[in-house]
Amino acid sequence: MSTPTSGAPRRPVSAPADPAVFVGFGASGDLTRRKLLPALVNLRRSGALPTTFAFIAVVRQADVGGTLADEILTAASTHLETPLTDEERQWFVGRIGVVVGDVEQPSLYADIATRLGELQASHGTGRNALFYLATPPQLFAPIAAGLGAARLLDEEAAGGCRRVIVEKPFGHDLESARALNRALAAVMTERQIYRIDHYLGKETVQNLMIFRFANSIFEPIWNRRYVDHVQITVAEADGIGTRGGYYDEAGALRDMVQNHLFMLLALTAMEPPISFDADAVRDERLKVLQAIMPMTRPMVERDVVRAQYVAGRVKDADVPGYLQEDKVAAASATETFVAMRLQVENWRWAGVPFYLRTGKRLARRVSEISVHFRQPPFMMFRDTAVRTLNCNVLVIRVQPEEGITFHVDAKVPGQALELQTVAMDFKYDEEFVQPPSTGYETLLYDALTGDQTLFHRADSTDVSWQAVMPILDAWATGGRPVCYEAGSWGPEDAHELLERDGRTWRRP
Ligand SMILES: NC(=O)c1ccc[n+]([C@@H]2O[C@H](COP(=O)([O-])OP(=O)(O)OC[C@H]3O[C@@H](n4cnc5c(N)ncnc54)[C@H](OP(=O)(O)O)[C@@H]3O)[C@@H](O)[C@H]2O)c1
Repeated sequence: MSTPTSGAPRRPVSAPADPAVFVGFGASGDLTRRKLLPALVNLRRSGALPTTFAFIAVVRQADVGGTLADEILTAASTHLETPLTDEERQWFVGRIGVVVGDVEQPSLYADIATRLGELQASHGTGRNALFYLATPPQLFAPIAAGLGAARLLDEEAAGGCRRVIVEKPFGHDLESARALNRALAAVMTERQIYRIDHYLGKETVQNLMIFRFANSIFEPIWNRRYVDHVQITVAEADGIGTRGGYYDEAGALRDMVQNHLFMLLALTAMEPPISFDADAVRDERLKVLQAIMPMTRPMVERDVVRAQYVAGRVKDADVPGYLQEDKVAAASATETFVAMRLQVENWRWAGVPFYLRTGKRLARRVSEISVHFRQPPFMMFRDTAVRTLNCNVLVIRVQPEEGITFHVDAKVPGQALELQTVAMDFKYDEEFVQPPSTGYETLLYDALTGDQTLFHRADSTDVSWQAVMPILDAWATGGRPVCYEAGSWGPEDAHELLERDGRTWRRP
């Protein structure tokens, strides 16, 4: 793997990554089967994976009959748009080594070191290794300690790059996030740590920066003089599925806001970085998070809505309420919906509210950012039949139907002066042929090539937890979430949050 990271020019995507062994902890799990292995197959199909590549699957259960690699690949194949060919299966099976053991046993790391050595010799993978922690979060620190104790993260001793991808959730609160950052820092440098946020792997999210900074038309109006407010919506139609145990401990604020929504906010509001250097970009994202006005308790009560779904209908099917879901405590007060009003108190955004909302079992699955511009002066229309002017709205759709729409007012043809809002529309699908993607390809490729731009830095995890802690603290002292019907757009309180300011949520 190339020496990271600052100043390294981004490669043309077709250039294969450097030789490496990918060491997947939790390789028998859902994430590896559904996302990581399919992403590696997609990378190979696009020529971005080197032939000098190997994969170590670290699993707990014994590899009965040596068929584990084949089983994992069969499961992964069902998550590919085009199933694995025989040639691809052979290619990967020949490169997957299995190491069995519990991550809390030191002997596991000696076994990994041995297997690494064997694969280096047999597949010419060099001395580079990328460790992916796809296990329950309480194992992140023990695995890092195990890798450290076995000197598997010592780049000088190894003679190659050693990087670690850490999955979400990154901590449960500020204290645990800090403890995890300390545990990682004890055995590796920040340059070796890749805290993943799969939202940053989305093409539209990456395009946000390009859209803003590669087009001169937007920057001059991207500020408090022209922008009335910004809305960020991440709505899911699904419930919690089989993740009740995890979700009931986490809730929407921890699961979505502290990481994904804050990153969308940061990319929308950040200053232009001086270059695409990873730290230049991450510095600017950090400054936005630092500028979020800290919430006092009265602000939490006024500006944050906490809600939980009750039974309703989603996509023409009856669905149970949150409290009836599997592995959810009978009287759980966990929020499945959050809406909030935030202030980014810097020179560009002072006085412009950012409204964020996210929830499960909402009317439909949609993630979008909408920038609502100020109303033009009405004066010249006052003697006409026009009663109101609509503000221009720029909508960046993150998923589905990725694209950008700009809403403007136009004259309806005819003798009367009548206005109608029309849309200028750009759809990714119509303009580009998008290669099949699980959303992890770019992130894995970037980690293999040493580009940390799309990963969280320790300081940004810290600051984002600092921003949500007053809300968690206020909720911890009691009270219950308000209710909303499954299949709706959230509780009445969320609508009132905007109505109070003379605004309404955009209906995606
Ligand atoms: N799945 C997703 O779509 C998704 C999305 C975003 C983030 N994530 C994050 O990714 C991580 C993995 O999620 P997942 O859905 O793949 O979980 P999962 O299906 O429960 O898999 C967890 C994996 O960790 C292994 N494991 C558990 N305890 C272990 C131990 N003591 N020693 C060794 N291995 C152990 C499990 O092995 P066994 O098979 O032996 O139990 C399994 O392979 C989590 O942190 C999750 O928050 C997942």
